[in-house]
Amino acid sequence: MKPPVWPTTPAVRATADHDGRWAEALHYARWTPSPHNMQPWRLRLLNAWQAELCCDPDRQLPNTDPQSAFTMVTLSMFAEHLAIAFAAQGYALSAEFVDAPIDYTVRAPVLVAMLSLEPLPKRLDARARRSALCERQTSRLPYDGSCVHNEVLETIQRRSATEGHQFGWTHDRAQVRAGIAINRDAVFADMDSEVARTELRRWIRPSDQQAQATNDGLWSRCMHFPGWLLRDFFDNHRAWQHGARAALGKRLLTHGMRGTRTLAWWSGPFVTPADWVRAGRVFAHAWLLLSEAGVHLHPFGSVVTNPDAHQRFLSMLGPSRPANTMWLLARMGYSDQPPRSLRIPTSAIFLNDTEQFS
Ligand SMILES: Cc1cc2nc3c(=O)[nH]c(=O)nc-3n(C[C@H](O)[C@H](O)[C@H](O)COP(=O)(O)O)c2cc1C
Repeated sequence: MKPPVWPTTPAVRATADHDGRWAEALHYARWTPSPHNMQPWRLRLLNAWQAELCCDPDRQLPNTDPQSAFTMVTLSMFAEHLAIAFAAQGYALSAEFVDAPIDYTVRAPVLVAMLSLEPLPKRLDARARRSALCERQTSRLPYDGSCVHNEVLETIQRRSATEGHQFGWTHDRAQVRAGIAINRDAVFADMDSEVARTELRRWIRPSDQQAQATNDGLWSRCMHFPGWLLRDFFDNHRAWQHGARAALGKRLLTHGMRGTRTLAWWSGPFVTPADWVRAGRVFAHAWLLLSEAGVHLHPFGSVVTNPDAHQRFLSMLGPSRPANTMWLLARMGYSDQPPRSLRIPTSAIFLNDTEQFS
């Protein structure tokens, strides 16, 4: 289906934000998680009540997310987070997504959704929900060796089912160990592809200076890896493909995940842009609920996207394998507070139509 045509009112950008309502909501929504912390969202304000949500052409993954499925997932999560932030300000935000994948050939911001506001009576719990946006984090630290409580997982399962998605998990020690090994092998196998490695390298921030200069990407502190090692892994990759360094890299990756007792996955329709948007809604609310219950998670994206690893994981699960497409797998558990990943400032999210894209 062709994407609908949106009103072509000239953009008034941040100047339309008379009372700062969009800036206030963005202040919270910018903490939305995104693959490699690339933060692809940009907003073109049309007036105080409407904005276009766009995908930044310089923040895309054409080689490793060729269909744009996971980029649409994160943009949908961003719209959900924005709605939670606006609810605390007394506005209901609705998002109407374009029914099309992101066109990677366009070297300009690509429209993904039309956002509209309406007044909403303020609710007492809305501010607490808004604080959860800033508290949610990815934890790549070791976990404390306990299983995630089943009541929390059952809540996620019920919530996911309301959107037509299934949520499954295992606390089985052998399965958890095997899942971690499959992820480790997939991460290393994916990085043997020069195209994938080059695309990911753009988002690696091996030093504090680099992370703080861009306020995006995967900071070595958050990856729980020494910066020198991360840099050498990418820039001197041949040396890490075999022998002692390959063994060391794999051992460090597995050791960093000790104490994990729960793996969990989501499955359901994941073919069309509308499916990806719905999956994003499911994931956004689930991650916030987990975070509110003190549970951290660490997605295992490579097991989902690497076909061999995906198959190995499903075979390993045996009869408990999901019946539908598994679109997200993560380890979950209780850990120390992880280092906080950085975000671009709120002002940089507003689109400036004179901006040049590479
Ligand atoms: C759709 C999606 C897929 C992700 N996949 C991975 C992954 O495969 N491995 C990983 O370590 N982190 C993954 N992440 C986590 C992001 O890297 C993380 O959200 C980002 O770096 C920001 O950090 P924060 O979640 O602590 O705010 C994923 C996040 C999203 C939204």
